[in-house]
Amino acid sequence: MTDLLRAEGITKTYRAGNRKIPVLRGVDLRVLEGEILALVGSSGAGKSTLLHILGLLDRPDEGVVRYRDVPVSRLSAARKARVRHREIGFVFQFYHLIPELDALQNVCLGAMMLTSVAGWLGMRRRVKDRARELLGRMGLGDRLRNRPAQLSGGERQRVAIARALIADPSVILADEPTGNLDSRTSEEILDLIWRINEEDGVSFLLVTHDAQVASRADRCLRLADGVIEDGTGRPAGESARGAPGAIPGGGKEA
Ligand SMILES: Nc1ncnc2c1ncn2[C@@H]1O[C@H](COP(=O)(O)OP(=O)(O)OP(=O)(O)O)[C@@H](O)[C@H]1O
Ligand SMILES: [Mg+2]
Repeated sequence: MTDLLRAEGITKTYRAGNRKIPVLRGVDLRVLEGEILALVGSSGAGKSTLLHILGLLDRPDEGVVRYRDVPVSRLSAARKARVRHREIGFVFQFYHLIPELDALQNVCLGAMMLTSVAGWLGMRRRVKDRARELLGRMGLGDRLRNRPAQLSGGERQRVAIARALIADPSVILADEPTGNLDSRTSEEILDLIWRINEEDGVSFLLVTHDAQVASRADRCLRLADGVIEDGTGRPAGESARGAPGAIPGGGKEA
């Protein structure tokens, strides 16, 4: 089976004083190799919470996150950080770029996190070349030296996507990647995501409120009442791009 990322029985309850806020009540979900999966759900349903757990940025109360069958959510903090930096790209809703750094430096930062100072000195040129190439692909070849404040929302999102790609991850988790953009810019960002998926085989999990994004994705899941249900009316696993079973392992399960 070609599960890339798999959540099994994930639960998460926040505590605010004495109050308990159960958000995830047993989430099962798979991201398959090469697919674009959309995740929808009303505001407050727990989509960001789930994405942070899948991206190893937060830990579940119960359940496990597996990356290529390895129970990565149970690894030590250091080993978890390696998986997070090397295998899983993350695109935050509000870009999370460092304001003092220019576009090129923001993209390089993702790779700097992977290594020691000595390691960085050895790989610096290669990383910079790769960052330049990625920003070029994002259509930002002439904006390398601009800081985030000097870029539009769509351009910032492109920098954030380039940063997510710098370590050649297998999967990118994106929290409302078009949430703050006008429809034309959203369209451009989505085309870019689909191109990266087709050219590099990177899988995407896209949290979205946009019905168009959801219908364009290979599969769509809905998070409601703390669990996952199929969000399309299509059988889970049936591809929007091709026949059922076009996705390796496309079955009945989420
Ligand atoms: N750190 C926290 N402490 C307490 N409650 C939290 C915390 N983070 C999130 N919550 C609560 O958990 C629930 C789920 O939040 P989450 O941000 O995951 O929702 P979401 O589906 O991403 O919503 P949106 O579509 O508005 O981004 C909400 O009720 C929120 O208030
Ligand atoms: Mg959210």
